[in-house]
Amino acid sequence: VDIYAMTNQKGGVGKTASTINLGAAMAAAGERVLLLDYDPQGHLTEALHLAETPEPATLANAMLGTYTGEVHALLTRAGDRLDVIPTNLDAFLLESALHQARAKESRLARVLEAYEDTYDVCLIDCPPSLGVLTDNALYAARSRSGRRGGVIVPVLAEDSSVRAVRLLLMQIRSLAEAMRVDVPVLGLVVTLYDARRGKVVTSTLEAFEHLGDPPVLGVVPDRASVREAWRAGRSVLDYAPSSDVAEIYQNLAKRLRAA
Ligand SMILES: Nc1ncnc2c1ncn2[C@@H]1O[C@H](COP(=O)(O)OP(=O)(O)OP(=O)(O)O)[C@@H](O)[C@H]1O
Ligand SMILES: [Mg+2]
Repeated sequence: VDIYAMTNQKGGVGKTASTINLGAAMAAAGERVLLLDYDPQGHLTEALHLAETPEPATLANAMLGTYTGEVHALLTRAGDRLDVIPTNLDAFLLESALHQARAKESRLARVLEAYEDTYDVCLIDCPPSLGVLTDNALYAARSRSGRRGGVIVPVLAEDSSVRAVRLLLMQIRSLAEAMRVDVPVLGLVVTLYDARRGKVVTSTLEAFEHLGDPPVLGVVPDRASVREAWRAGRSVLDYAPSSDVAEIYQNLAKRLRAA
């Protein structure tokens, strides 16, 4: 399984929406997709109108080693070739519990090993923080021989995002050094883009595009259909298949999977 961490410690930048819609696009293209609701806020679970995973087969228990049963018990089906590991309220305890654990950065990677041959792709919807939870997701997305994957950074085109991205890149570098792994940053996905908001927005997009590394993988406009799909518990591909947003996520999927 190729593991992609959808990460940005800044909140409300489209991590969850991008995880759902990119995942749906990949599934529509024929890949077997696993979405991981890795944010204790549980937005992905909520946005797809899924039930929490019942105890004891929760991700937190699996990561902490207090659940060692059948890993398929964590899964919920969300569509053709599209499965989800939903959240459970116990995810709130995970961050502090991990601090006491051994090998605390590699716990998620170890859980995901169990799905290695069941899925082509796993997308991790990360929480808006730079703590040990995010370290686990970054480590899971490290480069491994014969596997693609890496970090995808949803960002808003606004000034505060530039600093947020810099901070995230530093965190990734320091984790990679400490763990002696390579964590590829595949690129930025500019979300909620609305050029009518003016020069700050358009010039920030230009600045991101000028960076070149990491590249801008896609620009997703601010559209009512994304919010409506969320409320309807569906992906945009499913809710508004002929919308420009659906097409953009399909192109993003193609670009990532062609690489
Ligand atoms: N392209 C878009 N057009 C319109 N609304 C969008 C778009 N992308 C995301 N949204 C909406 O913006 C809000 C924030 O997006 P989302 O929850 O995906 O961000 P997030 O980075 O996951 O936030 P958090 O850090 O809180 O987890 C949501 O209500 C979502 O429906
Ligand atoms: Mg989110």
